[in-house]
Amino acid sequence: MSSENVGKHAIPAGFENAHAGPADYQRLYAESIDDPDGFWGREGKRLDWIQPYTKVKNTDFTFGQVSIKWFEDGVLNASVNCVDRHLERRGEQTAIIFEPDDPKAEAQYITYNQLSENVNRMANVLLSQGVMRGDRVVIYLPMIPEAAYAMLACARIGAIHSIVFAGFSPDALANRINDSGAKVVITADSAPRGGRKTNLKSNADAALLHCSDRVRCLVVKHTGDQTTWVEGRDVDVKAQMQEVSPDCPPRPMNAEDPLFVLYTSGSTGKPKGVVHSTGGYLVFAAMTHQYTFDYHEGDVFWCTADVGWVTGHSYIVYGPLANGATTLMFEGVPTWPDAGRFWEVCAKHKVNQFYTAPTAIRALMGKGTEFVEKHDLSSLRLLGTVGEPINPEAWNWYNENVGKGRCPIVDTWWQTETGGHLITPLPGAIETKAGSATLPFFGIKPAVLDPNSAELIKGDPAEGVLCIADSWPGQMRTVWGDHQRFMETYFQQYPGYYFTGDGCRRDEDGYYWITGRVDDVINVSGHRMGTAEVESALVAHDKVAEAAVVGYPHPVKGQGIYAYVTLMNGVEPSDELRAELEKWVRTEIGPIAKPDLIQWAPGMPKTRSGKIMRRILRKIAENDYGALGDTSTLAEPEVVDELIENRMNRG
Ligand code: WT7
Repeated sequence: MSSENVGKHAIPAGFENAHAGPADYQRLYAESIDDPDGFWGREGKRLDWIQPYTKVKNTDFTFGQVSIKWFEDGVLNASVNCVDRHLERRGEQTAIIFEPDDPKAEAQYITYNQLSENVNRMANVLLSQGVMRGDRVVIYLPMIPEAAYAMLACARIGAIHSIVFAGFSPDALANRINDSGAKVVITADSAPRGGRKTNLKSNADAALLHCSDRVRCLVVKHTGDQTTWVEGRDVDVKAQMQEVSPDCPPRPMNAEDPLFVLYTSGSTGKPKGVVHSTGGYLVFAAMTHQYTFDYHEGDVFWCTADVGWVTGHSYIVYGPLANGATTLMFEGVPTWPDAGRFWEVCAKHKVNQFYTAPTAIRALMGKGTEFVEKHDLSSLRLLGTVGEPINPEAWNWYNENVGKGRCPIVDTWWQTETGGHLITPLPGAIETKAGSATLPFFGIKPAVLDPNSAELIKGDPAEGVLCIADSWPGQMRTVWGDHQRFMETYFQQYPGYYFTGDGCRRDEDGYYWITGRVDDVINVSGHRMGTAEVESALVAHDKVAEAAVVGYPHPVKGQGIYAYVTLMNGVEPSDELRAELEKWVRTEIGPIAKPDLIQWAPGMPKTRSGKIMRRILRKIAENDYGALGDTSTLAEPEVVDELIENRMNRG
């Protein structure tokens, strides 16, 4: 697609009183870049501080000495900012609307007063289990209000939470418990989704076999299903919450104390624990939630992500609650009982801002517009997307059928590492183009660099890798337990810049178009998967000699997982073995990592030094084998012909 052919969408009516208009954007953006201390010094005041900061920005991107500090001498508590400070003015306002998986079950409306009581009680339960300031707590829960209580309870006592998406396997859970050195894991009996149930407690039991005996297991009895129970290790959280005091004094925390760790996939090795700070992260989550979604007092905000991903952290819990919003938590899936569920929930709760992923839009698009038309969507003011590039067809469908042409679409580009939106339209200020994340948020200095020379490309248009030239408060601070890996991953290749891992194009209007990952990370339905992770799961199977995993274009998921597998000598390929390997990867990592296509590869294309030429495997997986480029350095060029001959994607 080329930007020249794509028209701009004007700012829709009704955004005249948006938090930022076109002139505000220009002025504030310029100020944020010219005077970051002044700009962020003012913005930091949107939080309540126990001890105000006197320093604002203290950051260094120099490889070898990378250090990122914001508001460093300030003292605050995140749960106070998300809960206590709202009680006087909006104690009886709904903080969380909980919409259960089963559409016939009652929704819950949790007021700020009730949120406060639950968070305080849960915090006291954690204290009673010996959790102290700085300790790690792994949260492995479905999309239920207790997930938010648990996050805020950790924040209240200064413990560091690390949420593991409930779709991850016991092995993935165990790895994260062990890497973070967690003292406690909080889980539930089972997780209903789309009318089916996952037994989370038995996953946690399986994971804990690989962890220290000292790890406690706090169980939320959500469905009431029978589970195994280990005396002395397992704790009934809801029962305990009734035993403890409803008051738990908040622990004063330094702005730079970690608020949470969230594991994410990279191009190499095991997932990294992305560490976010208390002060800077919360300022940035709250500010982006307010500006990007043009959030106003009284709005009902719905982000459909799972709290297991950063989107859920920043835009279900921390951003909305810091702003005193009503945030909707949805336990279910978009296509059950039918493809109208999202729109039914929007109508039922009169949602004003709706934020979802392109993969969901594409899946619903395929089911036809009648599911949208059945429901009254007049409450919607704004639509958002996140997670992967949105193709213009999906953008237009969303705009016309859901937004009825009157809701701005904010295509928000950001990452687990960035804490909040970095490139996004502001609905009252920036005209949109279908498929472009448009312009940088306040304080963000995107830079397009030449991937070969690592030089800055000046002027428009430009195409290259996307870097960010200076820090912002929501930036990750380090990799848990491995600052060296943090520096090597993000600051080594392009000295002086934060390297995002994404490629991009900047058009003649200065608009950014994200073209996807340039590293060995694939984006499956908006979920980040390291190809190396799937490969190491596959080679862990005793029938597999070698595996190479690449992404390929998938009509609904954005990218699909394509695995080339070389079997051990004497092992015959079969459909049963293919199914066995799929199942194996599901248990090793989780259903999201299951290969979509597995091709038996008698040999891999390798250089003479034995390095797999992934470029060639990518091309074959893309069904673009006519353009393999230079294959002269291959050790055995004939393996390529064999792979082309038997390629799995002929679409
Ligand atoms: C990667 C980050 C940030 C929340 C969800 C994903 C891709 C994200 C967009 C967008 C194009 C996008 C990038 C990025 N991505 N949003 N609006 N347009 N690409 O977080 O798992 O850390 O993945 O998702 O490739 O690097 P994540």
